[in-house]
Amino acid sequence: PKSGWRGVLVDEGRHFMGEATIKRFIDTMALYKYNVLHWHLTEDQGWRVEIKKHPKLTQVGAWRTEPDGTRYGGFYTQAQIKRIVKYAKDRGVTIVPEIEMPGHCSSALASYPELGCRRAKIEVPTNWGVFTDVYCAGRESTFEFLEDVLDEVIPLFESPYFHIGGDEVPKTNWKACADCQRRMKAEGLADEHELQSWFIRRIQSYLAKNNRTLVGWDEILEGGLAKGAVVQVWQDIERAIPAVKAGSPVILSPQSHLYLNRPAESLSMRNVYEHVLLPAGVTAKDVLGHEVTLWSEHITPDNLFARFLPRGIAAAEMFWSDPPRDWASFSKRMDAHLAWMDEQGIPYGPADAAISTASLESLTAQGVGRVHVETGLKDIVVRYSLDGRLPTARSPKVSGSVDFPIGKTLTIRPFRDGKPVDWPKVFRSASHLGYGRPVELNRPPAERYSRAGFNGLADGFTGSEDFDDGMWMGWQGTDLVATVDLGAVRPVRSVTLTCLHQMRSWIYLPKRVRIEVSENGVDWVLLGEASHAIDERDDRTLIQPFNVTKAAQARFVRATAESFGKLPVWHLGAGGDTWIFADELIVR
Ligand code: ACM
Ligand code: ZN
Repeated sequence: PKSGWRGVLVDEGRHFMGEATIKRFIDTMALYKYNVLHWHLTEDQGWRVEIKKHPKLTQVGAWRTEPDGTRYGGFYTQAQIKRIVKYAKDRGVTIVPEIEMPGHCSSALASYPELGCRRAKIEVPTNWGVFTDVYCAGRESTFEFLEDVLDEVIPLFESPYFHIGGDEVPKTNWKACADCQRRMKAEGLADEHELQSWFIRRIQSYLAKNNRTLVGWDEILEGGLAKGAVVQVWQDIERAIPAVKAGSPVILSPQSHLYLNRPAESLSMRNVYEHVLLPAGVTAKDVLGHEVTLWSEHITPDNLFARFLPRGIAAAEMFWSDPPRDWASFSKRMDAHLAWMDEQGIPYGPADAAISTASLESLTAQGVGRVHVETGLKDIVVRYSLDGRLPTARSPKVSGSVDFPIGKTLTIRPFRDGKPVDWPKVFRSASHLGYGRPVELNRPPAERYSRAGFNGLADGFTGSEDFDDGMWMGWQGTDLVATVDLGAVRPVRSVTLTCLHQMRSWIYLPKRVRIEVSENGVDWVLLGEASHAIDERDDRTLIQPFNVTKAAQARFVRATAESFGKLPVWHLGAGGDTWIFADELIVR
């Protein structure tokens, strides 16, 4: 091989794969001669490994309450882990565990709040991003806890390597924490980056006592690299150079070419295939190897294989052969692989397209929404439901497009051989007096969140918990004033502006929404005001209706949403302009 460490990262934190899926995945890795499963076992959104001394990690930290109220989670018992390690070993795959620190640990802090600087009671989060609550680097109790965890995890695995994450650690709370500041003084550390480096070195020496070499993401370069640590480069491939200069072996996982969690429409098989394995100034002897990633924000057991293959075959060939690479020859050989995977029932995905795409059309004259569907592979079938439930293999098929009456919820989901192969997409809608009527705005929304081609606040389509679902309109750093013209004076009894709260994405509910009505567009009457009780630190994604219920006669209805203002000091983006996100101005 050109690459000794031919790894795949599987993130169990965001979505839990479970023993049957991960074993099948290991089989597939082995077929293409990958030899390292980098098993990301802890994340903000879930702790996935049983720790007997600290049982809340799996009683509390392995479970989260989704926005729809359902509980989601799971974990591996230590007995299961031993079984899976043995299973992998029998197939030539070594498992390298990752226990993430000092950041990406909300699930641990939700279980044991005293591990965080703020000692705040937090929930296991249900949304993605970088969280400011991290392990306190000041208190000894943090290290006692982490050593307990390592004591239980190390013996489960045979690899000489142990991954501790180390990526994306906001220093916000360390700056404000008396214990962390005391630690910095006592250790003579100049800043919080050096505190992070000190943290990593301390864990490194504990691992060394247990005959394990520390692996960390390239952030461990910041504040001084721990000598002898392995650096996994992900951000910018150039980060390999300082690591190599410092004598550290590197694992290359550039997000530009080896992040297979990125969908194939943004990272095609050809992009992967033609990637240059070694950056300039780095030679084969400097690198331990390469690794593709499957971060699971948007991956579940349903589409794990479709993200990995066929692009993972291109990466495997690259890990085994010299350049130059002959795309035409590779493509021809791929035909045989695809036929063979079909025969084996391996649910691979498209090489350079989305599994399925859905585009929406608004037919206000008919009162319907129309969704056009395309699939990235011929044998993928998209099925739908109109009752808000998840489509099954027996639900009706979408052929080309499907219409749904405004007021209904359309759910579509791609299937292959009777099994779901990707996420469902949900289109929610509301029927009301303002539907299809012209809306005047004080300011156009940001282009990216503009519902381009739609009359966004009156098109009947409402948003989901995904702020980027295309249904939400966004305005940054400004109040929003929206006026709908109902076309004639009508009796009105209720007006609602629906807004989104997603603290981590800078999306804040307006402080209040004022509703005014007018019969002529000149003389306005205040109908009422609506506010909310959501805390500014609340890190859930919340869809909040601002409703005023009062009878009136009106042709024009105006909603004025008052911006939250700048991001608070404790926020990662402190001082930045917040967004207002709104999806529909509903008049009944
Ligand atoms: C990473 O993608 N945060 C390593
Ligand atoms: Zn602290």
